[in-house]
Amino acid sequence: MSNPRSTRRPSSRNPASSLAAIVLLTLPGCLQSFDFAGADAAITKEHENGSMLIDQHSCARPAEARVTHLALDLSADFAAKSLRGTATFDVERSADAKELRLDTEGLKIEAVRDAAGGELAWKLEPRDPVIGSPLSIALGAQTRKVTITYSTGDAAGALQWLDPAQTAGKTRPFLLTQGQAILTRTWIPIQDSPGVRLTYEATIEVPEDLIAVMSALRVDPNGEPRAAGRRAYRFALDHAIPAYLIALAVGQLEFRSLGPRTGVFAEPKVIDAAAYELAETERMVEAAEALYGPYRWGRYDVLVLPPSFPFGGMENPCLTFATPTILAGDRSLVALIAHELAHSWSGNLVTNATWQDFWLNEGFTVYFENRIMEQVYGREYAEMQQVLGFQDLQSDIESFGATSKDTQLYTDLTGRNPDDAFSNIPYEKGALFLRALERMVGRARFDAFLRGYFDRYAFQSMTTAHFEKLLETALFPGDATAVSELKVKDWLYRPGLIEGAGPPRSARLAAVAAQIERFKAGASASSLDVKHWSTHEWLHFLRGMPTPLPAARLDELDATFGFSTTGNCEKRFEWLRVCIASDHRKADASLEQFLTMQGRRKFLKPLYTDLLGKPWGVEVARAIYQKARPGYHPVSTNTIDKLMSQVGG
Ligand code: BES
Ligand code: ZN
Repeated sequence: MSNPRSTRRPSSRNPASSLAAIVLLTLPGCLQSFDFAGADAAITKEHENGSMLIDQHSCARPAEARVTHLALDLSADFAAKSLRGTATFDVERSADAKELRLDTEGLKIEAVRDAAGGELAWKLEPRDPVIGSPLSIALGAQTRKVTITYSTGDAAGALQWLDPAQTAGKTRPFLLTQGQAILTRTWIPIQDSPGVRLTYEATIEVPEDLIAVMSALRVDPNGEPRAAGRRAYRFALDHAIPAYLIALAVGQLEFRSLGPRTGVFAEPKVIDAAAYELAETERMVEAAEALYGPYRWGRYDVLVLPPSFPFGGMENPCLTFATPTILAGDRSLVALIAHELAHSWSGNLVTNATWQDFWLNEGFTVYFENRIMEQVYGREYAEMQQVLGFQDLQSDIESFGATSKDTQLYTDLTGRNPDDAFSNIPYEKGALFLRALERMVGRARFDAFLRGYFDRYAFQSMTTAHFEKLLETALFPGDATAVSELKVKDWLYRPGLIEGAGPPRSARLAAVAAQIERFKAGASASSLDVKHWSTHEWLHFLRGMPTPLPAARLDELDATFGFSTTGNCEKRFEWLRVCIASDHRKADASLEQFLTMQGRRKFLKPLYTDLLGKPWGVEVARAIYQKARPGYHPVSTNTIDKLMSQVGG
């Protein structure tokens, strides 16, 4: 497609332009010069004028004293379900700084010392229900290192200690952490703000029949023996990251290589299935690099966790954490890996400055994920994904209400835990906005802009206001009409769907819609043309089912397509929603099994919500939750507890 705003690249086949092509490859921002400096200067000025960047979800005062490096030395006690040890920080401080402020929640602080081992005065300030208890440490005139001796408490929101029965192997316990958004403070006293970055190293002591893995590079993969049947593993990450990306898992794990810098960890019982499912990981890294520049983190490994992991995936650096519910057996759910991989640029390199800017992490990542999938699996695949994402967006806008501020890209989290505002909006509205920008300037120019952006702001944080200025001064320099035509301000600061972004289209899903119409008109399930349908087509089909459906038709669908027993969790989930909406009590057993066998919040919350909306469902939800709750991660129980309390459960 020709686009008047796009700049044409020289053809690399033309020998005369081969030099230019090299420059283009090595210095992608150069030929398409983007003036990032103008926006940077404007933002610096705003900050100097008093609007200092404040993260309301952290007690830290990084302008006075900030942590720059962490050396963690912890021992995992599975009997006591506690981590105990020390966190030693390098501190960068102003000469007159009196204190170092760290975020903590539920930690038992035992002592704080300086580099010479001298005790430093400290106090835990009164607990705030959202941000926890600030730890204030008195700094001497020369203090540049502090060591905190501590242990984690019983209700550490980041930690899940699994009994052997909750693992695939059933014989060994497991520990996993989840830091995002503000949970790292429940296992490490730290400046837990996405705007504060630090490098880290760690030594983790565990029982000798388990191994530890972290969001860092392994220093000694085999570990080092310690007394009393214990072993210690060491890690280091030389790139500065925000605290929410520090992650740890301990369990009986095996490693399988997938490519030169890619691999997978999983329990021995799961490792074959995991290695099969994730076989295309290296290709995805290559596709991502071709789009937006080199992968900067050394290794890209994936850890497939036990099923209680509350998210689909988490972009922990060097080591994506993933739910086993992506192991469908046919590689059909690997977009999730593309998503977490994309965060290696959007999120982990350029990081949302506060949780109000969360869309900068997730919206960019959904856009980038879709580009990777297009590259590796083709355009039709990417289009189907866009349509399903748009449906998620519409349904969230509908449930919040189109005027709700929670449907804005830039959100207001005053007095709230960021997790309470979690939705598809930052993901899908954010991606839609970037697609609108792409359409406006043309793909070549937009890609060059993004590549320049990741380079320019690597290892830094970004605010919505800064990005807005970048659009004005770097992407559309001197073109105020483009900015107003695009309604940039509406996109960023207004609720609801923004006019002008045409809904995405997919020919393959349009063909599915035709089959839905046939089914609605009475065609039998077995007469539907479902040949070569991918998971996406099935999801579209199930989402398009009219509800309530009569029991006979549901039985027919299930007998023909086996929805209630499918191992594809995404399909199973959509099927169960159709059943609840149709009061189809025959599905209760499948529902109970699904809600107890995995703890992914994206599946739990809608299903429990659907149940609670049914007169018969409240009791069913309560009974299932009572059984399932002990198996869920605190991230999930927090959400479902709130749902239940709304109906007096
Ligand atoms: N970073 C998120 C998970 C997250 C967000 C954890 C906010 C805590 C707070 C991760 O990258 C993510 O978005 N995961 C999705 C999968 C994805 C394919 C949309 C999920 O878990 O479902
Ligand atoms: Zn994400």
